[in-house]
Amino acid sequence: MKHRPWIKAALVAGNLACAAAASASAAAAAPAPTAHRIGFDKYSFQIDGKRVYLWSGEVHPYRLPSPGLWPDIFQKMKAAGFNTASIYFSWGYHSPREGQYDFSGVRDLDRLLDDARDAGIYVIARPGPYINAEVDSGGFPLWLTEKPVKNRSPDPAYLKLADQWMTQIDRILARHQLSDGRGTVIAYQVENEYYNGSPAGRAYMQHLEDKARADGITVPLVGNHNATFVSGKGAVEVSGWDYYPQGFDCSHPSQWKPAPDMAEHRFAGEPLFTAEFQGGAFDPWGGPGYARCAQLISDRFANVFYKQNIAAGATAQNFYMLFGGTSWGWQAIPQNYTSYDYGAAITESRQFDPKYYEDKRIGYFLHAATPITKTDAMAPGRLDNPRLVDRARINPDTGTQFHLVHQGDSTASAVEQTHLALSLKEGAFEVPQQAGTAITVDGREGKLLVADAMLGATRMVYSTSELMTDATIGDRDIAVLYGRRGTDGETLLGFAARPKVTVLSGQVTQHWGKNGLRLDYRHDGLARVLVEGGPRPLLLLLGDDQATERVWRQDTPRGPVLLLGSHLLRSARYDGSTLALTGDGDSDAHAELFAAGAAAVRWNGQPLAVARTASDGLALTLPVPQPVVLPALDHWTRRAGAPEIARGFDDAKWRVANLTTTRSVTRPGTLPVLFADDYGFHTGNTWYRGHFTVDARHAAPTGLRLKVMSGGNGGAYSVWLNGHFLGSVTRNDVGSFGFPAGMIVPGDNVVSVLTVDMGHEEDYDSTGENRTARGIVSAEPLGADARAITWRLQGAIADEDPQRGPYNFGGLYGERQGWPLHPGPAADWQPATLPSADATPGVTWYRASVPLDLPRGQDTSLGLQIKDAPGRHYRATIFVNGWQMGNYIADLGPQHRFPIPDGVIDPHGNNDITIAVWKTDASPGGLGTVSLVDFGSYTSPVDVDTVR
Ligand code: GAL
Repeated sequence: MKHRPWIKAALVAGNLACAAAASASAAAAAPAPTAHRIGFDKYSFQIDGKRVYLWSGEVHPYRLPSPGLWPDIFQKMKAAGFNTASIYFSWGYHSPREGQYDFSGVRDLDRLLDDARDAGIYVIARPGPYINAEVDSGGFPLWLTEKPVKNRSPDPAYLKLADQWMTQIDRILARHQLSDGRGTVIAYQVENEYYNGSPAGRAYMQHLEDKARADGITVPLVGNHNATFVSGKGAVEVSGWDYYPQGFDCSHPSQWKPAPDMAEHRFAGEPLFTAEFQGGAFDPWGGPGYARCAQLISDRFANVFYKQNIAAGATAQNFYMLFGGTSWGWQAIPQNYTSYDYGAAITESRQFDPKYYEDKRIGYFLHAATPITKTDAMAPGRLDNPRLVDRARINPDTGTQFHLVHQGDSTASAVEQTHLALSLKEGAFEVPQQAGTAITVDGREGKLLVADAMLGATRMVYSTSELMTDATIGDRDIAVLYGRRGTDGETLLGFAARPKVTVLSGQVTQHWGKNGLRLDYRHDGLARVLVEGGPRPLLLLLGDDQATERVWRQDTPRGPVLLLGSHLLRSARYDGSTLALTGDGDSDAHAELFAAGAAAVRWNGQPLAVARTASDGLALTLPVPQPVVLPALDHWTRRAGAPEIARGFDDAKWRVANLTTTRSVTRPGTLPVLFADDYGFHTGNTWYRGHFTVDARHAAPTGLRLKVMSGGNGGAYSVWLNGHFLGSVTRNDVGSFGFPAGMIVPGDNVVSVLTVDMGHEEDYDSTGENRTARGIVSAEPLGADARAITWRLQGAIADEDPQRGPYNFGGLYGERQGWPLHPGPAADWQPATLPSADATPGVTWYRASVPLDLPRGQDTSLGLQIKDAPGRHYRATIFVNGWQMGNYIADLGPQHRFPIPDGVIDPHGNNDITIAVWKTDASPGGLGTVSLVDFGSYTSPVDVDTVR
């Protein structure tokens, strides 16, 4: 084990860290914080000397603006066997202006970190200052677009600003460290994918590390800089790898690229840590959609790739993303749309993708098979199928063997069968032994088999089933083994004398021989076998993979609890002889509980009737959800929203474009500089009005050539002259607009240009890309001098809404007037029906009030859907109760459904839906049909405060 200065003396013995992390009640009852030693060696991380497998998923608080739902995500992770969350903290999300920081409301990170602790989740904190993350400017604040500093470098001007953020965020993280026993922050990542190993790059990294230590960060410093900061100046303590083997094009989801061998990326003396391993993929504007990304990074992908990492010796794996969430407001980067679902295991609407269950099977296994945290590579077992390969590891202390039997070509999809030659303590075996059976490896499957292991007090010589979990409950052990439905399973248990075997359900045959008891079966539903005669009785649950989905485990200070049934088991807590469970129920009410000493059971606070089962568990009947009936959205009003088009609009208070220099990395095409960021307008739409005078001395320009940069291929701009529409440009930067003579008037003439900032670029290469121009880059009047036009501009009003923060509003007229919050007099809004047949280019706002009274005691995940006939050319910005939850582009897509988190939407109250529609051409057809959608509804303890 490496000895590091931050390691504190152990103040307690035993596994208190796990206990503290494992239960809210323990945390609440703890009289004083207890320090913990966090260490590591070449095998694994350790807490107070105890090895731990970090099974981790990435979540981003800034992508779920409803703190009441944070526990939901952490509990869903914990219930799937995750013990760690890797969390980016976005500087820009907390800093609306230089020197101003906000950690309140939806930005309350103390609350977030307490929620992680209460759910029993360790945290790998990733505060940047740069995070990438497909978030505006890679997490740099919007105001940094006005600072021509050298990003991500030792430039003192940059460091001064970055240190402001580090001081703020480190102060919070420091109060939640596991090392001090005050929270569950277990590691701290310095910067993000920073590959600049030059002296300057090293000085920058060292600066951030010194700053973290000076700010009281005592947990290990980790990195995802691949091989860059392993040693020397700026080195982190544990170097991790980021790996996205399938890339980010989800259009061919069944085509796989091969699995990497992470063993090649080991660093001496450090555990093998995948700081980001692919858990999904982002999707671009116009892309195939997240359903495809979930198919690309499917449960099969998790099965093959994550197990390969285990077989390579990884003992800390983080998946990016585990819950992606929503790039609400204007947080998305130009390339991506609002949803950041990512095809992740927990969907944007907080539902379970099939991958959730695969992550859970593996996560439970890692928790149960503790010898996995200390293994060395060993010679593989021989296979009789050349298309399959075994990769084996052994724990040097216990002798436990792990064999990953998988396709030699990780992309192969044929079903293969084999026998595996094992050399075990009992001798040599060719498994399975039963004639006519085989180990079946489905296409895109890896079978991680365990041998020479313990199932509680019983020796398991080998099994051709995979181990999901084992638990000592009361005076017996319960183990869950599984395989794909219809495949053979064979398990050999070591006994000195023949045990008593009772098949409680299913078809299982037994053979007694010199090596012990062999059970032969087919994975089909859930078979149950009670084996008595060893040190403790063993109840074996032999399931197919579907059956494992409804196996839930929770650990309490009085030992583990298993529940077979329910949609989700969130927590288990003993209160005397009453076991209080919380969880979610679906239409299948049947459940069976295995819990020691539980005389009575409560489910979400309600007492449940219990009855003994044949397996000596407790039969429970869980409440089922009420049907959810959503109201139709058929009472709309509308209001015109682009007065800026009119010649006579009063823009006297707008900023006059008068800058001749810019902070941007883009060179202006004409002067004055017209970049929105230079004038402090950083989000969404910005309007420009160009005035020119026509009189005896000034001839009218004949037109205008414009270059406008919106970012990405979702950009657009529209141009009017004296209120007449001249045209729009989409998916391009440059446009020429002739001025028809009849539109020109004597005196003041006005060109109105509506632009949009689709987000600032990330700064992956540290070249200042976040300062790429947004807005008008060049404006050349045709037939006249550039100075003939005087420009004024107006964008988002800064600090308009401190609660919702800097990304919520852009600069449309209705936004500047606060219509999503305060719509103004009802008389200004005219009745409207959808879909709209509107043919007028410009901006129109739509509004509907929706009272909801959904079933109580139920977690219903809602969203809004826009449906259109093809060929409509408009864009929509969607607000729910003032929160900007989506940007929609009718003719680009692909997003049509916008999950709205509970808290933003109120399922038991009135809700205001406000949609700004920017129609980009004069063809008939504006906003399509808008409806509410229900992504899933379960009986649940989730009950969320509104964030209004
Ligand atoms: C990584 C990066 C993450 C995210 C990811 C792709 O390279 O560290 O922040 O951008 O790629 O989703």
